[in-house]
Amino acid sequence: MKVLMLNGSRREKGCTFTALSEVAKVLNESGIETEIMHIGKDAVNGNINTLVKEIAGKMKEADGLVIGSPVYFASPTGEIIAVLDRLFMTAEADLRMKPAAAVASARRGGTTATLDVINKYFTYAEMPVVSSRYWNIVHGFTPDDVRADEEGIQIMQVLGRNMAWMLKCIEAGKAAGIEPPAAVKKIFTNFI
Ligand SMILES: Cc1cc2nc3c(=O)[nH]c(=O)nc-3n(C[C@H](O)[C@H](O)[C@H](O)COP(=O)(O)O)c2cc1C
Repeated sequence: MKVLMLNGSRREKGCTFTALSEVAKVLNESGIETEIMHIGKDAVNGNINTLVKEIAGKMKEADGLVIGSPVYFASPTGEIIAVLDRLFMTAEADLRMKPAAAVASARRGGTTATLDVINKYFTYAEMPVVSSRYWNIVHGFTPDDVRADEEGIQIMQVLGRNMAWMLKCIEAGKAAGIEPPAAVKKIFTNFI
């Protein structure tokens, strides 16, 4: 089993990466493979189509998804929002019914608003949302700050443990003949 993790920060090995690495460590200890993919500047420098195609391809194989973002002006980064808008419009079939979690990193404020934005993509696409023992946030300006955020680190570890459990339950369900419900033909109504 594999979990794809997207790092929506401009900084490849910053606070968001540090938080995602902690989730990855616990997933790996539970026998689940992980890949942390850095979004970088490709979302906004004209390469978004290639980038989203690459992520969609990875999600065909992945069993779960974690989206990490630093807080920029009390929201996720413009880069990750650009990616998610495109990804969830074009690759929903490869996302639905796969467990997902959002992680936010901030120096001080705006974390829960950031989580709200990201979680809405998951619930739009019938992805079971994995929770932890608090909201999935860490605080820091540098990776060392995040490592010193003892509570934040524990939240990441519990998130990894809970996601591993959910993935294993889904796998056990499939082995017992319990398949995820089929997608419905969506009804779209407009109110004018
Ligand atoms: C453009 C920009 C906007 C930011 N806005 C906020 C904010 O609204 N609230 C906050 O607490 N930190 C804010 N920060 C700080 C980052 O969210 C914080 O340092 C984060 O942990 C950095 O994660 P990273 O190292 O993965 O990029 C901002 C940073 C930048 C570059």
